[in-house]
Parts: sequence; C-alpha cells; structure tokens
Amino acid sequence: MSGGVLAIDQGTTSSRAIVFGEDFQPISVGQQEFPQHFPKSGWVEHSPSDIWTSTLAVCREALAKAPDGGASVAAIGITNQRETTLVWDRSTGEPVYEAIVWQDRRTSETCAKLRADGLEAAFTAKTGLLLDPYFSGTKIAWILDNVDGVRARAERGELAFGTVDTWLIWHLTGGKVHATDATNASRTLIYNIHDNAWDEELCRHLNIPLSLLPEVKDSADDFGETDVGLFGRAIPILGVAGDQQAATVGQACFQPGMVKSTYGTGCFALMNTGKAPVASSNRMLTTIAYRLGGQTTYALEGSIFVAGAAVQWLRDGLGLIESAGESQSLAEQADPNQDVYLVPAFVGLGAPYWDADARGALFGLTRNTGPKEIARAVLQSVGFQTSDLIKAMHADWPEAGHPVLRVDGGMTASDWTMQFLADILGAPVDRPTVAETTALGAAWLAGYRAGIWPGPDAFSSQWKLEKRFEPRLQESERSRLLAGWQDAVKRTRTTQD
Ligand code: G3P
Repeated sequence: MSGGVLAIDQGTTSSRAIVFGEDFQPISVGQQEFPQHFPKSGWVEHSPSDIWTSTLAVCREALAKAPDGGASVAAIGITNQRETTLVWDRSTGEPVYEAIVWQDRRTSETCAKLRADGLEAAFTAKTGLLLDPYFSGTKIAWILDNVDGVRARAERGELAFGTVDTWLIWHLTGGKVHATDATNASRTLIYNIHDNAWDEELCRHLNIPLSLLPEVKDSADDFGETDVGLFGRAIPILGVAGDQQAATVGQACFQPGMVKSTYGTGCFALMNTGKAPVASSNRMLTTIAYRLGGQTTYALEGSIFVAGAAVQWLRDGLGLIESAGESQSLAEQADPNQDVYLVPAFVGLGAPYWDADARGALFGLTRNTGPKEIARAVLQSVGFQTSDLIKAMHADWPEAGHPVLRVDGGMTASDWTMQFLADILGAPVDRPTVAETTALGAAWLAGYRAGIWPGPDAFSSQWKLEKRFEPRLQESERSRLLAGWQDAVKRTRTTQD
C-alpha cells in the first residue's frame, strides 16, 4: 500500500492541517489563527465552533493545495492542544458552554479544596497528575456546576464530554463517534493510567457522571471515517494523540531515556520511561506517551505554561518588537553586566512549582535597563524553566543518564535561544530537519495504522539532525545564572516548600 496522510494539528492559537507524502515530508499546509477569549482574570476560553470551523477550513485548504487535490491521502491523524474541555449535547452537537482552555485558572480554589480534603495522593497515584486547574477534571465539574440545567442533562445521559480531539472526531464523523485516545485521556484527572480505564472513584470525587465520557482507544486505532459531505469522500481517522505526545512520536523518542522539548505557547518536555510508569518525587507528571497495540508506553512530563507566549507578550503586550524573530537580535545586544530575570508566571507556575496563584515578575531592573535586557530575560526564561524540568526528571529517574535534548516548536528557530538552552543545561541540544514534528507524529500514527508507513524502527531512522548546539558556558557562570533564577522564582512564588 502507499499514500499520504493528512495531519490535523489543532493548537492553542491556531488550527493547522498538513498533507505528508510517502517520504514523511510535508506537501501542503493550511493554517488559521482563531480568537482567544479572556472573559475574567485567569480565565481563557475558545469558541467550540471556531475550533471546528477553522479545522475544517484548513483541512480543505491543505487538501486543495496538494498536487493531486489530496486524492492520495489514505488516512487522517489528529493532534491537539490537550486538557481543553468541551461539553456538548449528544443529539444536537450544540456545546453547552465555551471550551475552557488548558491555561484557564478558574478552578484553582476547587483544587485547593480537594487538596485540603487530603485527596491529592489518590489523584496522583491513579492519574500521575497533580491537583492543578490545568487538567480537564475540575473544568468539567465547573461546567456541570455553573451552567444552568447542565448537571440534570448530564445525569440524564444527554451530554458528551471531550477534549479537542474528541470534539473534532465527533464533527468529522458527523456525530457518529465519541472517542479519544489514551494520551488525551491521561490528561483529564479522571483516567487511571495503570488500569487504562476511567476511574469511578475519582469521578465520584469530582461529581462527574460516567455517561459523559468517551471511549478510550489506542493512539493508532480506528476512530471512524469522515462524513462524505466534508471532503467528498470518506477518509478513515486512524491516529490520535495529544500534541506533546505526538511531538514525542514525531521526534522518534521511542527508546526509554529519550527526551524532547517543544516550544509553542508553553513548553513541554517529555522523557520516554518505557513500559513502566515512573512516579515522580519532584512534582513532574507521569503520563501516557502513546499506546500502540494495547501496549502503553509512559513518560515523565514537565509542563511550563509560558514560553512562546512570553515572546508574544514582548510583541503584543509591550510593543517592543514587531515580529517574534526580532527578539533574538535585541537579546544579542543586551548589556552583559545586567542580570535581569523574568519569571513568566502569567497564568501561574507549572512544573515543578505548581503555583496557580503566582503572577509574572521582572527582577534586577536598573535605570539602564531597556528593551534589549527585557528581550534577553524573556528568551533566557525559557532556558531556565527547561533546566528546572530536566533537573527534576534526572532526580526522578537517574537511570536515564543525561541524554541529549531533542527540540522543536517555533522558538527553536532562534539559534541564540537554543545556544543559551544548551549552555544552561550543560548538555547538547539537537534540532531536527523536520520542524513539523507534532503533525508528523500524528501523521505517523495514522500512516502506521493504515499499513502504509513503517514501524517505529524504520520511522526512527528517518529522523535527521539539522544542528547540534553544544554547551560552552563555564560551569561557574552557569551556576551563578541558575542561582539568580532560583532567587527570582522564590520571590515570585506564593507558596514555598
Ligand atoms: O498541555 C497543553 C498543550 O497541549 C498545549 O500545547 O502547543 O498548543 O501550546 P500548544
């Protein structure tokens, strides 16, 4: 068999679709940004119809731009912003509320209450996650408790919950399939990653009826066919994974100990830990990397909420640059004698601090500080945060040694940022030739399931290095910078431990 694959990458700020050819190279792309809504401080919402209509439009665009009009596309793979929560009516497909985005902090008090009730250990043992508003569970509970009439409808079995993949599968199949994959389920706070099943006890703690929940499948599996009316023919959906897990696959991190870090809106580092989950003592997450042929592969994950979003803030919030690319040239000119630190806790701090109430702060400002030093602090904050994650992962799983970090995502285009990352980690950073690793991972899952693309080993051998960044900072300078960062974080946190 042969053919291409259409990958859908539904992200936090844009929807993209890419047709990949038989040689795993992108052939055509469709992309659309869509509006972000911030109705209250700490709240972040998307319109469910924006998510669907932008996705449909970019799929049509990518198919139309492919030389054969997409005729050779044999399968669809979906990857998506994770944790973002939607609830809709099973008979009409009408959402009962907006999509509550992963960055949304409205359930911070609910999480604090569950913690005070002594429930965090139970949630962590079963899901590998922590009680933080980041995950879907408390967002589902918020919709059930705060939107008029919704709880009664949910209890009557009239409603469906889904993360973004599930919402898209529902629409792509004309409402026929209500399903997700194990990686997306593992981000909900109600999925038992050891038993691979929704957890009744955790659902009871959050008061979530089981009837809301989708069927959980492998990451390469049969998720139904697209409604003929959408693309003029039925195309099977054969691969689904959350975007960070798809990037892990796209970076061919199939061996235990391999680690990738993706720099999008946030930054997410995942280390493959193989067939056994590794419990974290350092506030990392234990999560499902992928599930293939019924076999689960686990990962340790460090999640940072703000990476590229801090560069957007330089551009849109402060107006210091006109395009993201300018941040590097500004940073290069910064005064080497000024130590300015940005802790970009715009939506709280993620791993390893998990401080939902912290807010961003700049330290070390003097009368001479200007846009250059602030731009450097923004780019360096990404390196410092990654260093926190990698250190915690090594402490959790020393057997992994000190592997090379494979990187992808928009910010990796900046050589300056990648060199700083290697310097501050004291370890090599590898940037691959294919920049579209997230979409490629979703495409591979679907192509593999379709039987048109090879297995993990052959797929791994196509991974190619574009550039390796070797660390070249003196150890004493590295320690000095890290100590300054730790001090800045300490002063930003609302909780200390
Ligand atoms: O967990 C959130 C993550 O999946 C979002 O990724 O790339 O859309 O910022 P991104």
